Amino acid sequence: MTGDKPSHKHEDRNGGSGSAGRLEIDTPVVADGPELYRITRDSAVLDVNSSYAYLLWCRDFSQTSAVARVDGAVVGFVTGFIRPDAPDTIVVWQIAVDASQRGGGVAGKLLNHLLDRVQGRGVRFLETTITPDNTASIKLFSALARDRAAEINSSELFTADLFPDSHLGEDLYRIGPLDAA
Ligand SMILES: CC(C)(COP(=O)(O)OP(=O)(O)OC[C@H]1O[C@@H](n2cnc3c(N)ncnc32)[C@H](O)[C@@H]1OP(=O)(O)O)[C@@H](O)C(=O)NCCC(=O)NCCS
Repeated sequence: MTGDKPSHKHEDRNGGSGSAGRLEIDTPVVADGPELYRITRDSAVLDVNSSYAYLLWCRDFSQTSAVARVDGAVVGFVTGFIRPDAPDTIVVWQIAVDASQRGGGVAGKLLNHLLDRVQGRGVRFLETTITPDNTASIKLFSALARDRAAEINSSELFTADLFPDSHLGEDLYRIGPLDAA
């Protein structure tokens, strides 16, 4: 996988509160790595991984990730992977949208684009973990399940005592089964 040839493009008008430029959902390329790092850092909510991790993700997991661009500039992303032990399950690792673009459906479009893409590979479930204080994220994934007419269930996964630092527990949210592509 070279990660340098975008595919699966989807274009739309951005109806969000930010710029009214043209919104495009795309497959990430390595050069997007620094923007994923920046958006994560600026979110002040997500765990910030190393800048190296985002470059690697854009190279090796681009087919299970997506970026949102407005007039070519990255304004949001979702990173994910297929669970090695469960090939019918995509795990959403991180999703974030620039503060200026929130509330306009960008995150929902990123997730729907990603699901449309991976359902052709036999994916029937989406999993993600969310801290209990992240209302926006819980709403986002609940809306996705509603729009896909799929069940959503939550359970404890990584309890706070497992973390060596002052990290809240991460609950597992599982959506599915999703309709066959
Ligand atoms: C969570 C986040 C990605 C949502 O992005 P967004 O583009 O604003 O989300 P959307 O506009 O696509 O909204 C999708 C749904 O979630 C709801 N939602 C989004 N943010 C919300 C908020 N702050 N409060 C309540 N509901 C919210 C929307 O109302 C919509 O539901 P609807 O279809 O019922 O109207 C964004 O707030 C963000 O980047 N937060 C910081 C990073 C983060 O917490 N990531 C998630 C954890 S991995």
